[in-house]
Amino acid sequence: MRKVITYGTYDLLHYGHINLLQRAKELGDYLIVGITSEDFDRNRGKINVKQSLMERIEAVRALGIADEIIVEEYEGQKIDDIRRYNVSVFTVGSDWIGKFDYLREYCEVTYLDRTEGISSSDIRSENRKINIGLIGDDEYLIKFYRESQYVNGLKVVSLYKELADETKSEFKGVEYITNDYEEMLQHVDAVYIHSYPERHYELIKGALLAKKHVLCEAPLVIQAEQINEIESLAIQNNCILMTALRTAFSTAYMRLLLLLKSGVIGNIKSVEATCTSLKRKEFLDGGNLEGQWNSICEWGPTAMLPVFHILGIDYKQKIISSNLLKDHPRFDLFTKIDFLYTDAVASIKIGQGVKSEGHLIISGTKGYIYVPAPWWKTDYFEVRFENAEDSRRYFYQLDGEGIRYLLVAFCKAVESGKDPGYISNEISNEIVKVVNDFYLKKDLYEI
Ligand code: CTP
Repeated sequence: MRKVITYGTYDLLHYGHINLLQRAKELGDYLIVGITSEDFDRNRGKINVKQSLMERIEAVRALGIADEIIVEEYEGQKIDDIRRYNVSVFTVGSDWIGKFDYLREYCEVTYLDRTEGISSSDIRSENRKINIGLIGDDEYLIKFYRESQYVNGLKVVSLYKELADETKSEFKGVEYITNDYEEMLQHVDAVYIHSYPERHYELIKGALLAKKHVLCEAPLVIQAEQINEIESLAIQNNCILMTALRTAFSTAYMRLLLLLKSGVIGNIKSVEATCTSLKRKEFLDGGNLEGQWNSICEWGPTAMLPVFHILGIDYKQKIISSNLLKDHPRFDLFTKIDFLYTDAVASIKIGQGVKSEGHLIISGTKGYIYVPAPWWKTDYFEVRFENAEDSRRYFYQLDGEGIRYLLVAFCKAVESGKDPGYISNEISNEIVKVVNDFYLKKDLYEI
């Protein structure tokens, strides 16, 4: 029997796929179709797949062309499959020409002409067109703009700011660059905000009143009473209001949380997270601090994220120890916050005028998890035990510092009208509350 094998994602099955499968079947007597798993796609940078693995399998099965369907889960699996199933022909569409020539050592390799004018990416873009406007700091907006180009159906159409000519060239294709916020809001369905934290409230409120979805860096606001107001406004106006803490969307971080839930290190007794950056020279030499983020806003939300995700928000007590600038008491060179829970403790160390090892350590009664620096954009962590031989290492691909995944999640939320809950409202609110206490000097001790 002449067995043929072919692979693909088969998202939102279309006639290009059907054409390919029919011709693949004609190359032999028995057709095996390998359908990519979600993890495999994510690892190879295909982040927008709309249907689940089961839905994609069902759609291909329902065509009745495949004799057997398998799941493609890892790099290098094709060679294993060809040997295991005794395959005579490997085939894929002509978009892959040359890429699989290395399989000629194991079987025939045939590239079939791709059907012109259709692809899953096109269908995804048509289904979901979200026009977004960007507000804020150039450095972040440039990154954000670049990453947005990997996300189907999201288009940056507007920027709210005056741009220097050299920065403008970074935003080729953005139609409306304006310093009138109201005008910007008329052109967009959603906004991304990375402004000065004290301005977030009015920007978020303006967008929600105009019924625009909002993706905003944390802290969303710095006054505790403002958070409930904007959350209610988002609900009233059927808008998504999402915190843009990219770490929460990285695969390694999400897997780490799941692993902890499975009890792999026993009962958790301590979470320690450190985030520092010595970027802000102004902090140390007394330069202009206008428009700068202080350490609690820059790093506090990221460092608090694993604490609240892992131990929850019901701590009994907190102590904020802060080294404040003498002439600018709202600016902290360094801040350490200790959280006391009934049965555990947590501690975050953050700073822009101090340097330390940026790791995350979660200690439990059976072992601990170690995430090396910089843990907030990690693709790797280790679960360690007393007996070093039992330790396990975990690696997950991270593209674009997680911004891409954050954008995909935001698009899905806008499309479905439901926040995916990577960062719950309770956690967002607690982060704002702690930042607010810093400003109010509540539970704060100056060092
Ligand atoms: N294919 C094809 N003609 C098309 C689209 C896909 O022949 N117009 C083939 C691909 O070459 C591949 C198989 O169908 O052999 C599965 O492709 P897949 O990557 O799942 O589909 P695409 O539509 O190319 O998806 P995407 O846009 O996400 O890359």
